[in-house]
Amino acid sequence: MTATVNRPQDTQLRAPILSARGLVKTFGRVIGLDGVDLDLYAGEVLAVIGDNGAGKSTLIKCLTGALVPDAGHLVLEERPVTFRRPQDARAAGIETVYQTLAVAPALDIASNMYLGREERRRGILGSVFRMLDHRGMRDRASAAVRDLGIQTIQNIQQPVETLSGGQRQAVAVARAAAFGSKVVVLDEPTAALGVKESNQVLEMIKGLRERGLPVILISHNMPHVWEVADRIHIQRLGRCAGVITPDSHTMSDGVAIMTGATNLQDPQPTS
Ligand SMILES: Nc1ncnc2c1ncn2[C@@H]1O[C@H](COP(=O)(O)OP(=O)(O)OP(=O)(O)O)[C@@H](O)[C@H]1O
Ligand SMILES: [Mg+2]
Repeated sequence: MTATVNRPQDTQLRAPILSARGLVKTFGRVIGLDGVDLDLYAGEVLAVIGDNGAGKSTLIKCLTGALVPDAGHLVLEERPVTFRRPQDARAAGIETVYQTLAVAPALDIASNMYLGREERRRGILGSVFRMLDHRGMRDRASAAVRDLGIQTIQNIQQPVETLSGGQRQAVAVARAAAFGSKVVVLDEPTAALGVKESNQVLEMIKGLRERGLPVILISHNMPHVWEVADRIHIQRLGRCAGVITPDSHTMSDGVAIMTGATNLQDPQPTS
């Protein structure tokens, strides 16, 4: 569906794929989000940066059904949506790799990719005998891994616990990429990865953009953000402190806004 690759330059002229307006989320007396707006356009990588506790994970959880916001609303492809559970967002085409990586270490790569959405065999074997289409899932998992250029994974039947950290992360991203038909959300996908492994994940993110799939990338790694992002949403103390681009602002500008040393004036209009 999202086959056209849209260049970030003209993003402002088009309707966003995903919009959030006025998201509020409190945890008792702790304010996680304090009225946050976010727009994600087709074919862009939108980075979300901010200090620890700035509300990045809370924001993406509210976008992906892992948390239900106290106030605010979401619009997906110009239709209002409400996600009560992560499955709701997945069904709507939004795939997420959460900060706490959810993979089943003892299972192989194909099983991990199809966890929770196993495919049955065609015909009576699947419908009556409920037999799973292991070969089909394995073939499609191989194709997804190959599509994403994860050459280092040699055997798709290898248990995920035997993979390196980077390969494991790559499987999680591959899974999101394979099933995310509208949006892919990645919370800290390169945290704790080496240089080579991080680059692999960054290349995968660029590959998703090439395919026209928009990506929300949460990261503390400024060089990574400045390398792949088209736009950068800055969270600070539960609010959006501004939206910048790698061209308009330097990494130190970004950090200054993030920490409150610099203020951007009302960068994102609330409509
Ligand atoms: N389930 C929860 N219960 C209570 N407080 C929470 C909960 N989840 C988040 N918070 C609080 O909400 C605020 C935002 O947290 P969040 O996890 O969104 O931050 P973050 O920007 O993702 O930080 P980090 O960079 O450390 O991942 C923090 O003050 C955090 O302690
Ligand atoms: Mg977080």
